[in-house]
Amino acid sequence: MKILVVGGAGYIGSHCVRQLQQAGHAPVVLDNLSFGHRKAVAPEVPFYQADLGDQPEVEKILRNEKIEGVMHFAAFAYVGESVTNPLKYYFNNVAATLHLLQAMLNTGVSKFVFSSTCATYGVPAKLPITEDLPQQPINPYGQTKLDVENVLKNLATAHGFSSAAFRYFNASGAAEDGTIGEDHTPETHLIPLVIDAALGKRENIAIFGDDYDTPDGTCLRDYIHVDDLARAHIAVFEKLADPGTTLFYNLGTGTPTSVKEVIQAVEKVSGKKVPTVIKERRAGDPPALYANAEKAQKELSWKIKFPDIHGIIKTAWKWHSNHPEGYQDR
Ligand code: UFG
Repeated sequence: MKILVVGGAGYIGSHCVRQLQQAGHAPVVLDNLSFGHRKAVAPEVPFYQADLGDQPEVEKILRNEKIEGVMHFAAFAYVGESVTNPLKYYFNNVAATLHLLQAMLNTGVSKFVFSSTCATYGVPAKLPITEDLPQQPINPYGQTKLDVENVLKNLATAHGFSSAAFRYFNASGAAEDGTIGEDHTPETHLIPLVIDAALGKRENIAIFGDDYDTPDGTCLRDYIHVDDLARAHIAVFEKLADPGTTLFYNLGTGTPTSVKEVIQAVEKVSGKKVPTVIKERRAGDPPALYANAEKAQKELSWKIKFPDIHGIIKTAWKWHSNHPEGYQDR
C-alpha cells in the first residue's frame, strides 16, 4: 500500500513509517517539522515538508504519489496548553484536519486512519474503558479529537468515506533497535522524565499526587508500546475496503500501571536509583485511565507484542541512554 503518513516525523508517526516499511508497504511522509524530526525518517522515504493548511500542495502530493490511504498523526497534544490556548488547538487539530479531509475528497482518496485519544472519554463513567462509554472530554485537546471523530462519521454518510479512529492510551517505548524514539520539547511524559532522572539529567522525578484513591495512591495509566500502536494502524486498513466504514478502537494493553510502578520499573531496567519528590496533584489528571483492549484484538489481525511495562521501558531505556539529547536537531 502507498500510504501518506501525515506527521510522519513525529513520535508515533515515525514508528509507523518504520513499521510500514518493515511490512513491505510504501510510506510517504508529510510533516511541517514544527515538532517532528527529519532524522526520525529514513532518507529513502519520500518526504514533503509542508503544512496541512496548504491544501493545493497536499492535493498535489496525494495525486502525484498515487496515495491509497492516509494516516494522520499531526496534532498538538499538550493538555494544559489546550486549556490556556484553545484556538491554537482548534486551528491545528480540527481546521487543518478539515483541509486534509477536503484534499482527500477532491482527489478520491477515501481511506483514513486517525489518531484519537482516551482523553475523549474525559473522566470515564466506568473502568476499564470500553469504546461505547460516553465521550465527554474535560479539556479542549480531547474535544478537538472528538470533533474530528464526529466529522468522520458525517463523511462516511455523505461520501462513503472509510475511516478508523484509534483512541490511544499512553504511547510509550521506542523502536527495538534503539535508533528512533521519543523526543518532545518540552517533555512532559512520565517515562522519558523518569529515565532522565535515572540518567542523572534531572535531580529527581516529581510524583504528581500520592493521595489518589488507587492501590498505591498514585495515578493509574495504560502504557502501550508505540510499535504496537503502529502495527494496529496497518492492520486496520484491510477493514476499510467497504465504502462508508467508520471504526473506533481503544488502543491500550488493558493493564493499569501506577506512577510508582513506572518508577520502580525504570529502576529495575536501568539498575539506577531514581530520586522522587511528592508534589501536588496536576490539574486535570483523572485518577485512573485504562482500556478494555479487547475490541481491537478481536476484530483486527493484531496482537500486543509488549504487554508488560518492563518490556516497554527496556526499549525506551535503550533509545534514551544511547541518545540522551534526542535527535539534537533543535
Ligand atoms: N506524572 C508525574 N510526574 C511527571 C509527569 C507525569 O507524576 O513528571 C504522572 C501524571 O500525573 C500522570 C502519569 O504520570 O498520572 C502519566 O502522565 P503523562 O503526562 O505521561 O501522560 P498523561 O496520562 O497525562 O497523558 C496521556 C497522553 C495525552 C492524553 C492524556 C489523556 O500523553 O496525550 O493521556 O488523559 F491527552
